[in-house]
Amino acid sequence: MNIGIIGAGHIGSALAVRLTSLGHNVYIANSRGPETLKDVEQKTGATAVTAEEAAQRGTDLIVVTIPLKNIPDLPKDLFAGVPAEVPVIDTSNYYPMLRDGQMPELETGELTESGWVQQQLGRPVVKVFNNILADHLAQPGKPAGTSGRVALPVASDDAAAKQKVMQLVEELGYDAIDAGSLRESWRQQPGGPIYCNDLPADQLREQLQRLGTKRTPEQHAEYLANQHQQEQAMAAQGIKL
Ligand SMILES: NC(=O)c1ccc[n+]([C@@H]2O[C@H](COP(=O)([O-])OP(=O)(O)OC[C@H]3O[C@@H](n4cnc5c(N)ncnc54)[C@H](OP(=O)(O)O)[C@@H]3O)[C@@H](O)[C@H]2O)c1
Repeated sequence: MNIGIIGAGHIGSALAVRLTSLGHNVYIANSRGPETLKDVEQKTGATAVTAEEAAQRGTDLIVVTIPLKNIPDLPKDLFAGVPAEVPVIDTSNYYPMLRDGQMPELETGELTESGWVQQQLGRPVVKVFNNILADHLAQPGKPAGTSGRVALPVASDDAAAKQKVMQLVEELGYDAIDAGSLRESWRQQPGGPIYCNDLPADQLREQLQRLGTKRTPEQHAEYLANQHQQEQAMAAQGIKL
């Protein structure tokens, strides 16, 4: 496949390594230009391009993996001419204290994180790879049926795009679990039990079922409080995003 990745940081680079090792052509971009990505090219085997080129040359799949707060900085016509059937993956997470600042629609719960990204991009997105640490994603996954194979939730309003992305998740060595629509993707956001816990398929399904689909105000408050605590702990350890 031809895959464009916008964002060449922890997740973008981890995905690039894995995807090139599977034989895919990967075009990767950051905000500063391809000339600043020589080391990433060398490390990942991907070709450095501009964000616009990544969107155009990623003729089978585009991944947007940049900090949430930077999404509005992307070129407004980024997806002009990109056919509707090309899936766009969003890996975003909301870190208000350490990185993104407070975003009203996410604080109130009016939108999910990827619901907000979808609105900003003006194009359906598939939420996946947001709940696995970059270090883990950089390692090869496991063949289907292997005990301890990690499962990843995949959420989208676009059924066809979700299906294509689920196939790729399986190819990368994870059980792909249909986690419903973007409205339901709050379940895999920071602050909840599915976030960065590398659950196997049975446990992931159990958690999705237990959480339900419609987020209650209590669940929203609990996720935000847990994330606040997590960010405070990270700040205390001097971790910067
Ligand atoms: N790190 C993890 O373990 C992890 C796990 C799951 C999900 N996530 C989420 O995935 C997203 C990316 O995380 P990350 O850790 O990979 O971030 P990161 O290491 O900070 O890298 C961010 C990348 O985005 C690029 N970028 C920023 N603004 C851009 C723009 N306007 N146009 C093009 N590229 C732009 C940066 O390029 P420049 O350096 O040139 O600005 C950089 O290459 C975040 O939402 C994060 O919360 C992270």
